[in-house]
Amino acid sequence: MERVCQALHSRIQSAQQAAALIKSGMPLGMSGFTIVGYPKAIPQALIQSGHAKDLTLCIGASAGDELDGAMVRHGLVARRYSYQSNKDMRDAINGGTVDYNDMHVSQFPLYVNQGVGPAIDFAVVECAAVTEQGLIPTASVGGSDAVVRMARQVIVEVNTTLPMGLCGMHDIFEVGIPPHAKPIPILQPEDRPGLPYIPCPTEKIAAIVLTDQPDRPAKFKPLTSTSRKIGENIVAFLKAEVAAGRLPENLGPIQSGVGSVGNAVLQALTASGFRGLTIYTEVMQDAALSLLESGVFRFASASAISLEEKTRERFYQNIDTFRKKIVLRPQEISNHPEVIRRLGVIALNTPIEVDIYGNVNSTHILGTRIMNGIGGSGDFTRNARLNIFATESVAKGGLISCIVPMVSHVDHTEHDTQVIVTEQGIADLRWRSPRERAELLIENCAHPDYRPLLREYLQSALSGGGQTPHDLALVFSFHRRFQETGSMRT
Ligand code: COA
Repeated sequence: MERVCQALHSRIQSAQQAAALIKSGMPLGMSGFTIVGYPKAIPQALIQSGHAKDLTLCIGASAGDELDGAMVRHGLVARRYSYQSNKDMRDAINGGTVDYNDMHVSQFPLYVNQGVGPAIDFAVVECAAVTEQGLIPTASVGGSDAVVRMARQVIVEVNTTLPMGLCGMHDIFEVGIPPHAKPIPILQPEDRPGLPYIPCPTEKIAAIVLTDQPDRPAKFKPLTSTSRKIGENIVAFLKAEVAAGRLPENLGPIQSGVGSVGNAVLQALTASGFRGLTIYTEVMQDAALSLLESGVFRFASASAISLEEKTRERFYQNIDTFRKKIVLRPQEISNHPEVIRRLGVIALNTPIEVDIYGNVNSTHILGTRIMNGIGGSGDFTRNARLNIFATESVAKGGLISCIVPMVSHVDHTEHDTQVIVTEQGIADLRWRSPRERAELLIENCAHPDYRPLLREYLQSALSGGGQTPHDLALVFSFHRRFQETGSMRT
């Protein structure tokens, strides 16, 4: 198949010509999910010309530095939706120069499809190929289908470095708008009820730009003895659940979260003895691909594949084999609450901090500064059959306890969370009262250095009574101590 069908050859133009269509103040819908499949040539051309400012970027999830970082450094961005993970974008958001609304990954396409939010002038979408029927996405789909559907016009970046073997790996199912939304006929992760391309009428395509710049590869922190122990604790917990008859032998589909901790803990499945498992997740990282190769996983459904350079080379070289084992879906489907609940997904995510009652902060450092965003953690946590939050018990070399009296920002409430795991142990919070939860989290999950302080806090809180005892005068003492002295301990 040629990358650009004959009928659209006349739309091929330079990035500068295509970027000139974009004007100041326009909302742009862009491809990109977990730093995979984001446009690069149009952002670069916009930076070079500088003619379009105050742009609103609507992207299903995180994009690479060539987009998020470079555009924000050149002062072109006024607003950003929905999940980001770029340092300079984060600084601009925390500095108040970019407005950011952090929404659930599943909500972004829902809003776009319903016309809630800005009317998108241009969708700028990176693809592997364009046909008369539509667009063949990259190794991510994310919110591309929604922004292409709803945008007035589409600018396509066809990246010639992408393997054509991606064709056939995607499944684009259009749910529609409530109250006439369709049921999603996915009964197991491998089901493909949709189309292998994003439908896009040719008349909507304003320009096609040929590019050859690959995505910036992912980078994960190496496995440590601590992350290995967290992973082992999770495996031990899952095995106990199987032994107790609460989970099937093959566990059911697994979701695993973004970041280094998520990647590291998944690696623990390598030596777990589990075989033939499935993934129903939003992003596959390095560990997930290796587990697919080794047979621990037999099939993966995701919205993106985010890999380090060497693993990506392996993925591309063996893409014909992987195409039989992986399906890439829109984020509306990968994170759809109804599908997650019905398939009985096990959700594995990473918090920033957890409080003694099980409330989880996934997004804000010390309650104010956004890290990345909620991503899909809420979509999965709330709807999973079993949800697990896994973190090291301390951060910043031990200066911060990840188990605190009260989280400084709440993303997942005590009503949603079920199991917390650190390298210290496991707190199974299901069916536990707040007082029992506090005991479990302090004794099983907190770092020994922080247990005396947490016990002291709990004693003081208990004296005031209540279903969920707190000493409101003391509640943020941990966070305040860190701000004042640089350590939560002193
Ligand atoms: N207080 C302050 N900083 C903390 C912290 C805490 N309690 N816990 C972690 N951090 C810091 C780490 O020190 C690290 O900082 P650095 O980059 O300066 O080294 C940073 O947060 C990332 O932590 P790291 O341990 O490297 O974990 P990670 O790469 O696995 O990322 C999250 C962890 C929470 C940031 C990431 O998982 C996330 O953004 N989650 C929210 C979205 C989500 O869960 N999506 C899942 C659906 S796919």
